[in-house]
Amino acid sequence: MGTSYEKMLLLWRDQVTVSYISLLNNKKLNIMTRLKDKVAIITGAASGMGAEEAKLFAAEGASVIITDIQEGKLKEVKAAIVAAGGRADYVVHDVTSAADWKKVAEKTIALYGKIDILVNNAGLASYTSSFMDSTPEMYDKILNINLKAHFTGMQTAIPHIRKQGKGSIVNISSIAGLVAAPFSHPAYSASKGGVRLLTKAAAIDFAKENIRINSVHPGMIRTPMITAAGLSPEAEQAVNASVPMGRIAEPIEVAYAVLFLASDESSYITGSELVVDGGYTAQ
Ligand SMILES: NC(=O)c1ccc[n+]([C@@H]2O[C@H](COP(=O)([O-])OP(=O)(O)OC[C@H]3O[C@@H](n4cnc5c(N)ncnc54)[C@H](O)[C@@H]3O)[C@@H](O)[C@H]2O)c1
Repeated sequence: MGTSYEKMLLLWRDQVTVSYISLLNNKKLNIMTRLKDKVAIITGAASGMGAEEAKLFAAEGASVIITDIQEGKLKEVKAAIVAAGGRADYVVHDVTSAADWKKVAEKTIALYGKIDILVNNAGLASYTSSFMDSTPEMYDKILNINLKAHFTGMQTAIPHIRKQGKGSIVNISSIAGLVAAPFSHPAYSASKGGVRLLTKAAAIDFAKENIRINSVHPGMIRTPMITAAGLSPEAEQAVNASVPMGRIAEPIEVAYAVLFLASDESSYITGSELVVDGGYTAQ
């Protein structure tokens, strides 16, 4: 224990220990404040990842407006947030309706006075028909919900976010927006690929205004979108086998990625794509 190398190691160990303790202390002091004083709108928040993001954002100090077409479930998510001591309200909102978007912005401003964050999360998948069986109506429906609504949402929120001098928009895409995932309908892939580039183009447009716009690309996540279509143990096994990390993810694992992009922690990140897929697209 006498050499200078050993002394250096001991000193380093002590320093690391001190840093770790202060990290823990800071974490304790700052806990649940990653979105302190922020106002966030999250679409499709009655279920799945949107609901998880709403609960996490509220727990981290945000006032949250949750929107969806499913009013009963919105009420449940709001009640859970309020019961946990958070601030939330909801708007019944079809993301394909510009009039509904106006309602969402008006209610958010009336309740909380500003908009800092928008998460364009609402989405629709189709597992019911093959490429040749798809109808133009179905194609339009998927594109309108998954892609055009992100555009309308950004057009609605940006004039309000602009007034804050900075803000963050997170557009939920998918690994289906990066590769032709075998479980995705081509219309779904088209919509999610569109979200990826819509995000980058908008990010460039608003970068000088400090409005950051990024996309998140989840892999297979255990939400009603997947389970409602019927996820048999065999199907889950097949999915697990296709993912390097060997499993489907839970919604909270995506919610933390969305939280990071929504918060000021990602202050120099815009136009990027954050992939949350257990390594699927790295193969
Ligand atoms: N679950 C996955 O494996 C997965 C993977 C990649 C991407 N995604 C995407 O993540 C997002 C969230 O999906 P999820 O998995 O939580 O699914 P989910 O079905 O649990 O949630 C989607 C929500 O969107 C709402 N919605 C649908 N159409 C709407 C409309 N016209 N207006 C307003 N709300 C509407 C639904 O009511 C639902 O509450 C979607 O954009 C989805 O495409 C999901």
